[in-house]
Amino acid sequence: MTEWQKSNWRNKPRVQMPEYTDAAALAKVEAQLSQYPPLVFAGEARRLKQHLGAAGRGEAFLLQGGDCAESFDQFSADAIRDTFKVMLQMAMVLTYGAKVPVVKVGRMAGQFAKPRSAPTEVVDGVELPSYRGDIINELAFTPEARVPNPAKMLQAYTQAAATLNLLRAFSTGGFADMNRVHSWTLGFTDEQDVQKYSEIADRIQDTIDFMDAAGITADTTHEFSTVEFYTSHEGLLLEYEEALTRLDSTSGNWLAGSGHMIWIGDRTRQPDGAHVEFCRGVLNPIGLKCGPTTTAEDLKILMSKLNPDNEEGRLTLIARFGAGKAGEHLPRLIKAVKEEGAKVTWVCDPMHGNTIKSATGYKTRPFDSVLREVRDFFGVHQAEGTVPGGVHFEMTGLDVTECTGGVRAVTEEDLSDRYHTACDPRLNASQSLELAFLVAEELTNLRSNGSKRAAS
Ligand code: PEP
Ligand code: CO
Repeated sequence: MTEWQKSNWRNKPRVQMPEYTDAAALAKVEAQLSQYPPLVFAGEARRLKQHLGAAGRGEAFLLQGGDCAESFDQFSADAIRDTFKVMLQMAMVLTYGAKVPVVKVGRMAGQFAKPRSAPTEVVDGVELPSYRGDIINELAFTPEARVPNPAKMLQAYTQAAATLNLLRAFSTGGFADMNRVHSWTLGFTDEQDVQKYSEIADRIQDTIDFMDAAGITADTTHEFSTVEFYTSHEGLLLEYEEALTRLDSTSGNWLAGSGHMIWIGDRTRQPDGAHVEFCRGVLNPIGLKCGPTTTAEDLKILMSKLNPDNEEGRLTLIARFGAGKAGEHLPRLIKAVKEEGAKVTWVCDPMHGNTIKSATGYKTRPFDSVLREVRDFFGVHQAEGTVPGGVHFEMTGLDVTECTGGVRAVTEEDLSDRYHTACDPRLNASQSLELAFLVAEELTNLRSNGSKRAAS
């Protein structure tokens, strides 16, 4: 293979990317962005890679979550805080179930560009280019709004920088103190309809009280009051990614400076395409979405291109098949991984295979389908003797009504109340936390089945 360069993707077939019409404006934005500081540091990306490697071995568990698409309109400190807060709560509950550290990665601070199922959209007989995320064009249904505008990359960069700054402050500034985080969770389980989760919550509280008595507190122990929180997004808009790519002087390798982890979507994983070409050359941990159409053959080629040195934590395979479908698709991909002796981290995205249109016309996802896909995923890994390394959710800390179901049931009629997503439907705060409790139960069962097997 010829030596990788950050612009080589330009020689490969590209899909799902905008056709910018003003070449001079685009070049100006790219030049500007390439002068800006990177948002993340290579040492952080390497550290995340180590954590993801541990998740691949079953020594950690990944919680990746956040918006389907971040938006310029809904950018606010409260929204960032609320999503961060619910992720911390989920992570504590999952830590309890998994009995290993939970690696926290937001779909935040860069998750702006969206692949679409069709290049155009028709409303009342009018056809316009599809909305592709706030970094590219606008949601409003007018011809002007849908023109891709390169200057939006600068606004996305600014928003990502401010978001990451706040996340870093929350991570170390006292907000993440375990006592506080768990007191929010107790507030949730105290409420009438969710008391079935209070047993786990009470046990976590007992553990905190025990540690407190033993002198392990926020004052004495760093881990009690701070968290590591990482950022991720789909590396879709390659002009933006290339402009933020920097040489890491310590290792001489290239870093995608736009976020800690980037992933390749289900629609852009062509082995000879532009997105794989870009991602193969950066040192960051890389995610690869695997859907029903992913073949064992393609997966083998992708693993050798994206992780030629078989480095642990480099490649996370994010399975997204739909409820009831993991049994049909996952075993052939696990077999391909085994045949290659490849080191990967398997993660379940139970969102993207479970999108349906409600009778009321909204794009939604039933909570039960989301849960079922997670259970299918765990079941297949147990049968194959492989490691389920984490979960990937579209979620928000806000009280939206976008996915149906959950113990505080959102009905199809409720969807119109607070349907705010710029793209796909997200779990709300209560649904997210409930799912964490249910996944924790699965993890507890997996561990007890594992130890029964070891004993027999
Ligand atoms: C996404 O994660 O928002 C997404 C578009 O996923 P996928 O590529 O798996 O469809
Ligand atoms: Co999505």
